[in-house]
Amino acid sequence: MLGLAIGLGQPTSAQTRLSGNQFLTPQLQAMQQDADANPISLWVEKGQILWRNDCQSCHQSAETLRSSAAEYPRLITRNNNRRLINLEDQINVCRQRVGQHPKGLEDDDTLSLSALLHSIAKGQKINAQAPVDATGQQHWKDALAQGAQLYSTRIGRLNLACMHCHDGKVGANLRAEIISPGHPTGFPIYRLNWQNMGSIDRRLRACYSGVQATLPPPGSETLRQLELFLKVRANGMPLDGPSIRR
Ligand code: HEC
Ligand code: HEC
Repeated sequence: MLGLAIGLGQPTSAQTRLSGNQFLTPQLQAMQQDADANPISLWVEKGQILWRNDCQSCHQSAETLRSSAAEYPRLITRNNNRRLINLEDQINVCRQRVGQHPKGLEDDDTLSLSALLHSIAKGQKINAQAPVDATGQQHWKDALAQGAQLYSTRIGRLNLACMHCHDGKVGANLRAEIISPGHPTGFPIYRLNWQNMGSIDRRLRACYSGVQATLPPPGSETLRQLELFLKVRANGMPLDGPSIRR
């Protein structure tokens, strides 16, 4: 299989609802629990400063948005145009409200605010729901079906679908990592491999890269449909990000 060695491993039913945090090595778990060693604290602190400067005037304290992160991606309508947006997209939508240029999804400020909003939402159960209006509901259901389709379609030179790893190989070793069920609970993540924080958008593209497939562009519909599928699949699981990853 083109040099890709995946160790044997069949998921037990006890593993299927586990967060990626449960698959960290003891060293990374220790780093995550130690506030002084955990680089994520810096992002959350920066997020608090940005919040006071750019967001507080409309939203009051960030704690008022405690349930927000668990509800993305959401379907929004702008100029009769419906699209799915995730939390990082929402941050950029709001930034434009105050006349700022939207920054990239992986921009330091975007990730700092995302880290802040996710840290406030820790423990909230993932709650991805269809909108109430009939047309919106149909669009949402179609997007979810697309996401499910993407999740189970073989891609790349390795010819593997998401499900082959994240359902079929949970617990197996792959390039010094242990394959988790791929739940979207822990984002944004500080990945040692990146020496940086990254959003779910970037992690999903890294999985495309891992199987040597053409990467969908950042912010593309494909990635939002996949995120929607992953969120619905994980509905009811508590958010536990931001977190450290290898
Ligand atoms: C060849 C196996 C493989 C395939 C195929 C694959 N991934 Fe991954 N994925 C990994 C590995 C390894 C990691 C890092 C360890 C972990 O958390 O599973 C990962 C991480 C993730 C994570 C982050 C989990 C966390 O808690 O940090 C998500 C979400 C994810 N993958 C989704 C997907 C999606 C969606 C696809 C299909 C487009 C996909 N993956 C395809 C191997 C794979
Ligand atoms: C000029 C007022 C204004 C500012 C400033 C503003 N927002 Fe918003 N924000 C809104 C409105 C209005 C909504 C309702 C949803 C929509 O229309 O996008 C919203 C919605 C949100 C939501 C979803 C809330 C929910 O109900 O779950 C988040 C998260 C958010 N904003 C983040 C931010 C961040 C981060 C900043 C600072 C960069 C910011 N906003 C600055 C007006 C603002």
